[in-house]
Amino acid sequence: MNVKKVVFPVAGLGSRFLPATKAIPKEMLPIIDKPLIQYAVEEAVDAGFSELIFIIGDTKQAIKDHFNFKPNLDISNLTEVKKNFLSEMHKVIPDYVTCEYIIQDEPLGLGHAILQAKEDIGEEPFAVVLADDLINSQPSVLKQMKNHFKDKDTSIIAIQKIKNCESLNYGVIDYKEKCSNLFKTTNIIEKPLPEKAPSDYGVVGRYIFSNKIFTFLEKISAGVGNEIQLTDAIKLMLEENLVYGYEFKGKRHDCGTKLGFIEANISYALNDPDYADELKEFIKNLL
Ligand code: UTP
Repeated sequence: MNVKKVVFPVAGLGSRFLPATKAIPKEMLPIIDKPLIQYAVEEAVDAGFSELIFIIGDTKQAIKDHFNFKPNLDISNLTEVKKNFLSEMHKVIPDYVTCEYIIQDEPLGLGHAILQAKEDIGEEPFAVVLADDLINSQPSVLKQMKNHFKDKDTSIIAIQKIKNCESLNYGVIDYKEKCSNLFKTTNIIEKPLPEKAPSDYGVVGRYIFSNKIFTFLEKISAGVGNEIQLTDAIKLMLEENLVYGYEFKGKRHDCGTKLGFIEANISYALNDPDYADELKEFIKNLL
């Protein structure tokens, strides 16, 4: 089954990053020199997705501007070095890939954001990527998940092992059996107290859904944090449908938190030969 469509919900308030997110979505914050959303888009394109759907906030056009950017510059007077830097701007999205931008009028929650894509998705299965979950892996997590996705009626959600004390930051699954990295999910709870967490597997921001998810997104009302929670729709879906948790291979950085964002910048810079040696030296001296 070839899944072509991918939804990027980027309309959240990003309140943990205020004031940086007053006028731009947190998905525009850069890891070194590239915004989080560009990492997510490159992951999706590399995994073979060709129809990108962005759920954007009413006043936050920065993501649309980023991907539509056509510089109107006379570059003849620029130095070669600057011309090389500018060539980076043209490499964002290949021509065969289409982009759709849908406005979520109010940030009523992740579930509500995804529901805005219902008409564009139609009958097909589709992926969802949360760009603030930056995952360094080879092959990419989306590619790993696509390889496991065979049946259009079966959804897959990415999971990772978490510490019990971290359960308040995750949707946490319960499962009946597991085969290699695939866990047959039986329940999911949004941000449970550690003593109520059904397992030590938390959901992270990569999903491939059957389009049936929309039926359940339409049924739910506001949950934890007074938001329309994707987790609650998955929980309802589980009553009648098979959903697998997929324990991916790779290192995930939670860039929705300041610490995770700082760690991601350091980690990516340490992996970059342009900065690694000097940065190591700098950190050594600092410590
Ligand atoms: P988060 O739970 O991280 O929320 O959203 P947030 O609003 O972005 O950040 P904080 O908690 O205020 O700091 C997870 C993903 O869902 C998107 C966000 O943009 C992020 O990619 N989202 C969330 C929406 O698109 N719309 C919403 O109403 C809520």
